[in-house]
Amino acid sequence: MVNRGKVKWNALRDLLIRNDQDHVVPFFENLGEDRHSELLAQLESIDFSQLRREVLRLRRPSCDGSRLRPATCIPLPGTTTEKARWKQAWVDGETVLRRGEVAVITVAGGQGTRLGFDRPKGFFPITPVKGKSLFQLFAEKIRAGECRYGCTVPWLILTGPDHLEETKAFFVEQKNFGLREVYIFAQGQLPTIDMDGKLILSAKDSVAMHPDGHGGLLCALEKIGLLQTLRLPRIRHFSYFQVDNPLASPLDPYFIGFHTGMEAQVSSRCVRKNFPGEKVGVFVESEDRTRVMEYSDLPPECAMATDVSGRLHFGLANVAIHLFEANFLEHFCQAGRSNSLPLHISLRKVPYINAAAHLVRPVEINAIKLERFIFDLLPQAECAVLLEGRREEIFSPVKNSAGLDSVETSKRDQTRQFADWLARGKVDLIRDAGGTPPFFLEIAPSFAVSCEEFLEKWMQLEKKPAVGANFYLE
Ligand code: UD1
Repeated sequence: MVNRGKVKWNALRDLLIRNDQDHVVPFFENLGEDRHSELLAQLESIDFSQLRREVLRLRRPSCDGSRLRPATCIPLPGTTTEKARWKQAWVDGETVLRRGEVAVITVAGGQGTRLGFDRPKGFFPITPVKGKSLFQLFAEKIRAGECRYGCTVPWLILTGPDHLEETKAFFVEQKNFGLREVYIFAQGQLPTIDMDGKLILSAKDSVAMHPDGHGGLLCALEKIGLLQTLRLPRIRHFSYFQVDNPLASPLDPYFIGFHTGMEAQVSSRCVRKNFPGEKVGVFVESEDRTRVMEYSDLPPECAMATDVSGRLHFGLANVAIHLFEANFLEHFCQAGRSNSLPLHISLRKVPYINAAAHLVRPVEINAIKLERFIFDLLPQAECAVLLEGRREEIFSPVKNSAGLDSVETSKRDQTRQFADWLARGKVDLIRDAGGTPPFFLEIAPSFAVSCEEFLEKWMQLEKKPAVGANFYLE
């Protein structure tokens, strides 16, 4: 009789030896059959030859800045012609929304290390007065769009594997915040390796793994086969943003209007970079394609370079708000293509089990994490459009627990945006030089998701509420 346990172990051992991972064989040999099966399933999906190639890449010289050119964008409207063009884009975008052709994708996975929050990032309380979570805020924005345009907007949420069940339970508890179609699914993981490409053990019976980056969205979508179901017969565009940016607008008529009007396969919003060392990717052009160069990869001389007017030469920042044409995205969510995005390397300190089976917390960098980035789809597009936005209207991410891009700056920026809307609605407010009032304000998406919508409704209010500290309007 065949010993099934032995068969699994033999298969696992062969896989490890074949891929130069013999060092973990003694650790795994005496584990039970179930564990052997789990490890085999986990490791079988890994392309070890790709990992080896990435390790070799570490030894290659970094990017040659002389081959990069700044990308060009559709600027904010200044002239009368530009203003008319933006106005038309708004009308076109609203038509597309009324036809119900847009679905929303939010990436909410990763590890949230900088924020120091170990629950799903979307649970983070962020609105200035009510303290609504990021998920609730975006759900309300999408629901407001559904009501305004009389359509259903499917919402796809990518989360980390460890947070999948908790996130699903949260949405069930909240009855999907009134949304009809919410799909929550998990991204994949990749093994963390040492500088020689060897697997690292996080425990005596476990391989250290990490999330595969937001580019893992493609594999995750392929795995659940959601796009085919959704596409029929209506969805033609996917609006994508990161959960960490409360100012992101899931259904932005201007953006959708430009994207569809120019028949782009991918469109991205951009803002002017604040200072050379700001931790944002920038849009560049190389080999006749538009792409994002991550802050860690941009050569310092490029990051510092300025043009004749003193503006940063590579000054268009990636705010991670994109639109993907559905056929284009679906093409990359098929077997054999969904893992074709390049892997990016980051060097980390990762605790590991040493040869003597002791847990070591390294003081020096000892590990490589590999991730795929969704913006690597940009150079694949025949037509990619960049649309400039005002930072104060579209970008104030929550990355850190304090300081730059923190909860504090984000609440301030949300308040400032609402104060701007109110000021344009002829409300007299005390504001500092930066436009921020001395107290928090909040306008719920059910009232308005844009200044245009706010003004339409506010001007029609016969009795306008008084605006003061902790003002909340819904
Ligand atoms: C990211 C962009 C950067 C951009 C900036 C704007 C990357 C690599 N860089 O930088 O170009 O200027 O945002 O805010 O994205 N996430 C996942 N799964 C993962 C990893 C991340 O879903 O495996 C999600 C996170 O929930 C987060 C977002 O992606 O919402 C961004 O990830 P983060 O690692 O914080 O990127 P940044 O370094 O801030």
